[in-house]
Amino acid sequence: MDNKNPYSHNGDVMILENNTSSSVNKKMYIESYGCQMNFSDSEIVASILQKVGYKTTHILNDADLILLNTCSIRDKAEITIRNRLKSLNKLKKTKFNLKIGVLGCMAERLKKTLLEQEKIVDLVVGPDAYRDLPNLINDLEDGKTAINVLLSREETYSNINPTRLNSNGVNAFVSITRGCDNMCTFCVVPFTRGRERSRDPKTILDEISTLRSHGYKEVTLLGQNVDSYLWYGGGPKKDFVKANNLQKKNSIHFHDLLNLIALENPNIRIRFSTSNPQDMTIDVLHVMSRHKNICNHIHLPVQSGSNKILKNMNRQHTTEEYFNLINLIKKIIPNCAISHDMISGFPGETEQDHQDTISLMKKIKYNFGFMFMYSERPGTLAARKYKDNIPEAVKKRRLGEIIKLQQEHGLFRNKQFIGHEVEVLVEKVSKKSKNQWSGRTQQNSVVIFNKLYFKIGDYVSVKINSATSATLLGEAVSYGPTQKNYE
Ligand code: SAH
Ligand code: F3S
Repeated sequence: MDNKNPYSHNGDVMILENNTSSSVNKKMYIESYGCQMNFSDSEIVASILQKVGYKTTHILNDADLILLNTCSIRDKAEITIRNRLKSLNKLKKTKFNLKIGVLGCMAERLKKTLLEQEKIVDLVVGPDAYRDLPNLINDLEDGKTAINVLLSREETYSNINPTRLNSNGVNAFVSITRGCDNMCTFCVVPFTRGRERSRDPKTILDEISTLRSHGYKEVTLLGQNVDSYLWYGGGPKKDFVKANNLQKKNSIHFHDLLNLIALENPNIRIRFSTSNPQDMTIDVLHVMSRHKNICNHIHLPVQSGSNKILKNMNRQHTTEEYFNLINLIKKIIPNCAISHDMISGFPGETEQDHQDTISLMKKIKYNFGFMFMYSERPGTLAARKYKDNIPEAVKKRRLGEIIKLQQEHGLFRNKQFIGHEVEVLVEKVSKKSKNQWSGRTQQNSVVIFNKLYFKIGDYVSVKINSATSATLLGEAVSYGPTQKNYE
């Protein structure tokens, strides 16, 4: 130990040592776009920058550093963010030292473009380079170019304890994998987030244990493709094939991880997203049915109901296999909610293909879904191989039909709860009335009910009286806040 600095072994003081005078008392403002993973990554970024003296602020005009954690999934997302960047740049007219940075998928996809050609940002940092942020900010202050878009082969942020942003103290995201190896032809994610890597289970359990000790009641495990989680000592999944037998024997798959988390945290609700039909295993379903604290909801994107389109999307399953999986889910977890992602107007989608999507939806009657028009992303296989040949108006009309049907199914599913008592975790004050709480069931339906003496973070038994396609309305029937009812 260094005698001159009795605290040099201590992480906190190491941090102070890193505190350049220029970053002490500075404020950062972070805005996140797109998927849950981005919102989770912003909490990692906040943690990294707090350690070098930055405080977070919700007031734009107070910020010395504005960071946009961006999304490239569809063209529209990028247009929105570009417009936002342009308008943020106007703040520089009155605040000369203001720096604006772009993080996430647009940083990775566009690399130097926003910095050098469009000149609307000062800092460009890809999804795997956030640990370099303090250095990059220093470079920027020294007048150097500040860009790092290197992708990693390891889970980069395992040991960072995220700073929870905009938190209600009840729900939290916990990343378990990064990147994606699936290469769906329409998707930009494998290019912007790199190869798939899993996080050391110990660090995942530690993070959840910290959340638990702070009173959190629900965690959502995040990954582009959670079912392919695999820990055998680190590194990309393809190296697993080369790994020795001992490593393989000791490896931890997604169902093992779920089991470990559920056992260690009996009072915490566990959710996960996203499941890819081709990678989901029966083991996961059995673990879900064994543990009451794993929520009965599976987000299972299908994208299309046409086998031809699924093949061209490079989704590795047919609609028949998808139906088999749904049947298996319903058999093993009878009251499991299922949600989806759907794309209208993929290249070559005929009216019949669209009708196949409609009939798939009618068979399954999803609880809810996220529905999009196909947006061609430069560099993806679909962009190189297929002409974006469905007119915008047709994409739009088909999307409208898909959304309308989903609303009907949402209502159908929600009405099934009427007259039943459901377990609700209270999350926030209802937007419609300050006298009512808003919470969610295990199946992820939103429930609104009178506050009475309950508080945020309580599990409440609520009897459902009425339903819309998006919300359930009911009344609390438990006599007092139930601390826990899973054990
Ligand atoms: N597995 C990921 C999927 C990320 S993208 C996850 O964690 O959710 C989320 C959804 O966006 C996809 O399921 C797909 O429905 C949609 N999407 C992706 N690329 C798209 C594109 N080019 N055009 C339209 N929708 C797209
Ligand atoms: Fe994208 Fe398909 Fe992966 S949608 S994130 S390539 S599973």
